[in-house]
Amino acid sequence: MTTQRLENHLTLTINGEMVRLKEVSPTMTLLQYLQQSGQTGTKEGCGDGDCGACTVAVIGQGCDRKPHYQAMNSCLIPLAAVAGQEIVTVEGIANGQLHPVQAAMVQTGGSQCGYCTPGFIISLFAAYYDRTLEDAAVEGNLCRCTGYLPIRRAAQRVASGQSGDEGVLHVGGDRFAAKLEHVTPELSPLSYTGNNQQFYRPTRLSDALQLLQHHPESILVAGATDLGLEMSHHRQAFPVMISLEAIAELQQLEQMAEFVEIGAAVPLSRIEDILRGVFPSLDEMLHWFAARQVRNRATIGGNIGTASPIGDLPPVLLSLDAEVRIAGLVGERTIPLANFFKDYRQTDLQPGEIIVSVIIPKAIAPNATRRLSQSYKVGKRGTDDISIVAAAFTIDLDSEDRIVQARLAYGGVAATPVRAIAIEQQLIGKPWNMTTIQQIKPLLETAFTPLTDLRGTAEYRKLLIANLFEKFFVETSGLQ
Ligand SMILES: Cc1cc2nc3c(=O)[nH]c(=O)nc-3n(C[C@H](O)[C@H](O)[C@H](O)COP(=O)(O)OP(=O)(O)OC[C@H]3O[C@@H](n4cnc5c(N)ncnc54)[C@H](O)[C@@H]3O)c2cc1C
Ligand code: FES
Ligand code: FES
Repeated sequence: MTTQRLENHLTLTINGEMVRLKEVSPTMTLLQYLQQSGQTGTKEGCGDGDCGACTVAVIGQGCDRKPHYQAMNSCLIPLAAVAGQEIVTVEGIANGQLHPVQAAMVQTGGSQCGYCTPGFIISLFAAYYDRTLEDAAVEGNLCRCTGYLPIRRAAQRVASGQSGDEGVLHVGGDRFAAKLEHVTPELSPLSYTGNNQQFYRPTRLSDALQLLQHHPESILVAGATDLGLEMSHHRQAFPVMISLEAIAELQQLEQMAEFVEIGAAVPLSRIEDILRGVFPSLDEMLHWFAARQVRNRATIGGNIGTASPIGDLPPVLLSLDAEVRIAGLVGERTIPLANFFKDYRQTDLQPGEIIVSVIIPKAIAPNATRRLSQSYKVGKRGTDDISIVAAAFTIDLDSEDRIVQARLAYGGVAATPVRAIAIEQQLIGKPWNMTTIQQIKPLLETAFTPLTDLRGTAEYRKLLIANLFEKFFVETSGLQ
């Protein structure tokens, strides 16, 4: 891979037409390209993944490893990341007659100023082929005009097969469904240069490690939902990028009797589907994590690699005692996630290393008979918002309901995601009842020194740290 010749052209397919691009910047966003090439149906609202106006459908691998239309925010996708892929934009879905989701939006009055409409149409389009036309299909699309109800009705109408349009197309019988039969969703290797930038997409871990050694200045990219902001807003042109999306070893998700191992480049929507019901606290946090367009690209490796103190998965993974598998050219090592976060946005990753996977053990403490585990996210909005505080708790109890193991993990309360280790130790041996909770709450309130920022004051965060633990007790004891 490292000796492979760099190509100066990229190909991608947009609305069924193959496009060959020469010398373009690999970090130009897909949205910027669409706009520059006159395909202006796809809109820019925020440019940072929040509004969904720029939603396109990309044919990618679903949890069944088969091709699916996946809604994604084109404002966050580096152009080179979709090389070789099939993209559908709003211009491409009507074919002499409106697509059922378009027809339903017209019939229910789902569009007023219309700026958000292309994004809604594409989110509904992707959900139509997956038969997932519930509210969550449009949770990543904002509309200022319609009050949402007409859009919701449009989705419900299509879902129940009531679009009432003469020319309704049926899933399974149209050209988009037919297309899915003939696409290979696997990404191919890529070594591209354009605009004096390089973009590599190796398919083997060993190639990625060698590339990293040859290009110590390079930046690793997975779903680009964090890095995409740099490209979209700050127009940052990274000189060398190594994409981890196509690496087979990083795409594995294995469920064993004792543990689950999730490849670092597995997108969150796939984790959500495959592991549903295995770890309740993970299910809950994924539900509140961004929106579908982001979860279709964001990876677990990116969430811990970015080391944000308000990342939502670290508290869950810390409370489940997860480990991180890390590879370098000299070999592999596995460390507890608790040792991975070193300081604000600093991790234990050494130069030349890549996160390979996250390992979550399933076993409860040896002398325990049952486990209680849940997570909580407090933000200003329900979905698609950043946490003020995120918390995840795992408590193992013996047959007399005494605590034999406790892990209390938080985000948004310190420079890194953290566990309340001293308090966990105090909980051991105590009965799981309200008296214990009331004894522990004051200690939790003073356990960390969170900051005041525009999302919440330090005092508010301290209250959340304690009160979320009480909420956990109340919920898991059936007291609410
Ligand atoms: C609209 C929006 C909403 C969001 N909502 C949430 C939310 O609710 N909760 C939340 O926690 N986050 C949220 N995020 C942030 C982001 O989506 C997550 O952090 C995501 O998991 C990042 O994954 P990625 O694959 O996109 O990372 P990338 O952007 O590709 O990479 C992020 C960082 O991790 C590094 N990296 C990636 N993979 C590896 C690897 N395998 N080894 C070593 N380093 C690696 C990269 O070099 C980079 O520094 C949101 C982002 C957006 C745009
Ligand atoms: S422009 Fe708002 S999500 Fe892309
Ligand atoms: S119709 Fe105006 S923003 Fe949605």
